[in-house]
Amino acid sequence: MTPKPDMSVHLGGLRMKNPVMVASGTFGYGPEYADLIDLNRLGAVVVKGISREPVRGNPPPRTVEVASGLINAIGLQNPGVDGFASEYMPFLRKYDVPVIVNIWGRSIDDYAFVAERVDAVDGVAGIEVNVSCPNIKEGSCMFGSNLDMFKRVIAAVRQKTRLTLIPKLAPDIAGIQPFAKAAEESGADAISLINSVPAMAIDIEERRPKLGNVTGGLSGPAIKPIAVKMVWEAAKAVKIPIVGIGGISTAPDALEFIIAGATAVAVGTANFTEPATAVAIIEGIDAYLVRNGMKGIVELVGSLWK
Ligand SMILES: Cc1cc2nc3c(=O)[nH]c(=O)nc-3n(C[C@H](O)[C@H](O)[C@H](O)COP(=O)(O)O)c2cc1C
Repeated sequence: MTPKPDMSVHLGGLRMKNPVMVASGTFGYGPEYADLIDLNRLGAVVVKGISREPVRGNPPPRTVEVASGLINAIGLQNPGVDGFASEYMPFLRKYDVPVIVNIWGRSIDDYAFVAERVDAVDGVAGIEVNVSCPNIKEGSCMFGSNLDMFKRVIAAVRQKTRLTLIPKLAPDIAGIQPFAKAAEESGADAISLINSVPAMAIDIEERRPKLGNVTGGLSGPAIKPIAVKMVWEAAKAVKIPIVGIGGISTAPDALEFIIAGATAVAVGTANFTEPATAVAIIEGIDAYLVRNGMKGIVELVGSLWK
């Protein structure tokens, strides 16, 4: 009998049993999905973005469906770092799945503060740094689009944690490579991309924006080809692993990202329509490796024929 392919991957010191995680903001903090799928099957769980203090988020409507996608403007609602640690970590610690905490702030000091707190929480494996949320009015966005601010925020977070550090890059920047390189030079263990793409939709009868926040972030199948291209470009610029995100809802989608250069992938919007999407993708990748006589997933990473 041929041995099963090795699905495990590493992001810095973080070992994942398979390359498929769930994306921040689309999987709550874990308990929301625990009755629907076996969390232990996942490569990692990335929780909804956490900030220094609790945040109420934006006025409704907060989401609108568009062709092949979703525009959201949740406004980074969250219970704050201490609320997250006390309310959700006791639950998450019961599982054999790495927990990656997505963080954001309105200042460099905020990011450093939250990173230090998260670092002290038992059971957390990594920190994903959201510098690219299109849904809040101040802060956060500028860190993702200004190279100097980006470097400073990542270096500040790096100083506060030894956990696997994963900056999450913005899609709406002139070129991905300088940001990918800056992340690597600032001590990141991996990078993830992409966040949702700034977007808006209008109700023409009312002549009003469809979202309470007016603009939001587009996610889902509509953004996948953009994300694949950005992962491919980033992979040429850095040696650290890449987590590919954007419109992944099937194993072939995930495989595109991996062949383009992603070591791991995250499933986002697809969790809303089918909670078992990530599990089906894990099985589909495994079947692909078997079908192609590959010993492990690592063989496939960045294997695009050129
Ligand atoms: C409702 C919603 C909430 C999100 N919240 C966050 C968040 O808190 N932090 C973050 O970094 N990304 C957040 N994202 C972005 C996703 O993690 C992901 O990068 C994006 O949706 C693209 O992937 P997808 O097309 O598979 O959904 C959110 C996305 C959606 C749809």
